[in-house]
Amino acid sequence: MNILVIHGPNLHLLGRRKPELYGTTSLARLNALIRKKASALGMKVRIFQSNCEGRIIDLLSANAAWADALVINPAAYTHYSYAIRDAIEALGLPAAEVHLTDVSKREPFRRVSVIRPVCAARFKGGGPGSYLKALKYFAEML
Ligand code: DQA
Repeated sequence: MNILVIHGPNLHLLGRRKPELYGTTSLARLNALIRKKASALGMKVRIFQSNCEGRIIDLLSANAAWADALVINPAAYTHYSYAIRDAIEALGLPAAEVHLTDVSKREPFRRVSVIRPVCAARFKGGGPGSYLKALKYFAEML
């Protein structure tokens, strides 16, 4: 099973960005955890991070033929990017929306997700574990 993992804007700063909220795990370390879990589950992963909406859409398109499922933390784009929402829908693959923090308990604008309706599942508030739960979900589901 091939899993496409996409991290959205500002997640390159993980470990340094508001550690009291997002934790001290760097993006490199998070990606290592994702790779380890995927390998244990017999999955292949491609992992990307981008700060640009259009680049994320291009990555979805470019990896559509390879991927069996998508794990995406759209970061702030979660709350307003109809373009990424449409691209996920157009991808036609099962998708999981993930967040390090529990966005439902933060500022009102973070409680809105325009991505949620095009995702099969949502994992939030578990730090790096949110991504690992999404992998496990697809291992069991697909
Ligand atoms: C986030 C939550 C978003 O509201 C925020 O803009 C992020 C990270 C999370 O993983 O908790 O950049 O997606």
